[in-house]
Amino acid sequence: MITTSTNLKEVSAEKAASYIKDKMTVGFSGFTPAGAAKAIPKAIARIAEKEHAKGKPFKIGVITGASTGDSLDGELARAHAIDWRTPYQSDKSLRKAINKGETRFFDMHLSVLPQNIRYGFLGKIDVAIVEASKVSEDGKIYLTTSVGCSPTLCRVADKILVEINDFHKTGIEGLHDIYEPLDPPHRQPINIARCSDRIGTEYVQVDPKKIVGIVRTNIPDEIGAFKAPDKTTLKIGENVANFLAEEIAAGRIPESFLPIQSGVGNIANAVLGALGKNKAIPPFEMFSEVIQDSVIELMKSGDIRFASATSLTVENCVLREVYDNYNFFKDKILLRPQEISNNPELVRRLGIISINTAIEIDLQGNVNSTHVMGKDLMNGIGGSGDFTRNAFISIFTCPSIAKSGAISTIVPMVSHLDHSEHSVQVVITEQGIADLRGKDPLERANAIVHNCAHPDYREELRKIFSNTESAGHIQQSLSHAFDFHNRFIKSGNMQVE
Ligand code: COA
Repeated sequence: MITTSTNLKEVSAEKAASYIKDKMTVGFSGFTPAGAAKAIPKAIARIAEKEHAKGKPFKIGVITGASTGDSLDGELARAHAIDWRTPYQSDKSLRKAINKGETRFFDMHLSVLPQNIRYGFLGKIDVAIVEASKVSEDGKIYLTTSVGCSPTLCRVADKILVEINDFHKTGIEGLHDIYEPLDPPHRQPINIARCSDRIGTEYVQVDPKKIVGIVRTNIPDEIGAFKAPDKTTLKIGENVANFLAEEIAAGRIPESFLPIQSGVGNIANAVLGALGKNKAIPPFEMFSEVIQDSVIELMKSGDIRFASATSLTVENCVLREVYDNYNFFKDKILLRPQEISNNPELVRRLGIISINTAIEIDLQGNVNSTHVMGKDLMNGIGGSGDFTRNAFISIFTCPSIAKSGAISTIVPMVSHLDHSEHSVQVVITEQGIADLRGKDPLERANAIVHNCAHPDYREELRKIFSNTESAGHIQQSLSHAFDFHNRFIKSGNMQVE
């Protein structure tokens, strides 16, 4: 393995960034801040600032696996260097640019991104910039803490730049399983029947002639700490665990249990912790998108046996622990491309229990995961749709209120729709559980209001769906459907004064 030869030339981040020109489409590695390119995007941001200072345009299209860290989305957004962005983000500066209309954003199911690139739906990819732990002269790229869309980006891009990050010199190699399906009409079944099945290689194979520069770095992933679980998130977690334990007891979930997919964020992290603590739930496997801190904790305690995902999104001290105890973790963690980790065919086949978080949920069980008050983007749909639509049981969680009670997350009608009532089976808040399976619209509304809404909002919600003028299959009053949202926009509070 080498990093310097005629073909594989070590260059500075500035030299590497000089390959990027105005209007190019650049695909970066990174799925969450894990494994995101860091040095070259920062250098691109400096070029953009210099060009803008000279009155010249400099904006690029940015594709990554999902969200990234501050050195990529943050730096480029603050330098006003992003013309368009897909498929997901969670960065404050970029969110601001998107919500102001300065950056165009295409919110996309994460599993379809690689095939959409191959199908040509996003145009030509000029340069792929990926983080690796090492590269061989014959073009084998060993990725770091995420796989995401990197295999496809590297294969279709005209040129490749690699950041070799020595932070991952030891401990990550061997955790990857790289496989790219053929496109229709030649696609074959994906030959995975268990979470731990391997079907690919440990590296991304590229034509080494396409690698035009290698930048050496030693930068940890820019992953922030989770909020410690509080009373509300602990109660949500406990409710999810109790619901699943009862499903086992009722014989609807096999006693050996089924693999879990768990979403991103503070709530998902707390929910997993609660699953581990519930003695009625046997040690389980994960077939998910992201491995968060709680998964590693539960592996150590023996409550999680195996986790397949596309990124290892853990705090650096936790990552160090994984690397230092590689022999313990190496046959328990597998990182796959996002079109495999989130693949609908596999989610259906493996019988995944999906657990995702909502921004708001309406009385039918429709879910908004992405837009506050129907207009401001929070993060994006991510993989929640890939899993929800195809799950064995699909669960959505959220606290019953947000912003100290000024917002009810249970609303008469969602202000933006990501997951429809046809895909959402169970709603869980700290108040309780609404099992929507086999219920008609009125039964659904009753279960959601009675079991999940905050007591301060129950009466108002009841009034809306018990309005006799609006009888029909669904008791929906169009004139009052957005009363909660309109009140919040006017007064900063959804409650009736
Ligand atoms: N209206 C306004 N703001 C709301 C809200 C609502 N109905 N519901 C939540 N929020 C705000 C919270 O107040 C919090 O704001 P803060 O950061 O200023 O404190 C923020 O959203 C995050 O909420 P939090 O309660 O801490 O939950 P979280 O960290 O678990 O994130 C989502 C929740 C919905 C934003 C997050 O899970 C997400 O982006 N999901 C979509 C993508 C997805 O599901 N990916 C997983 C696929 S594998």
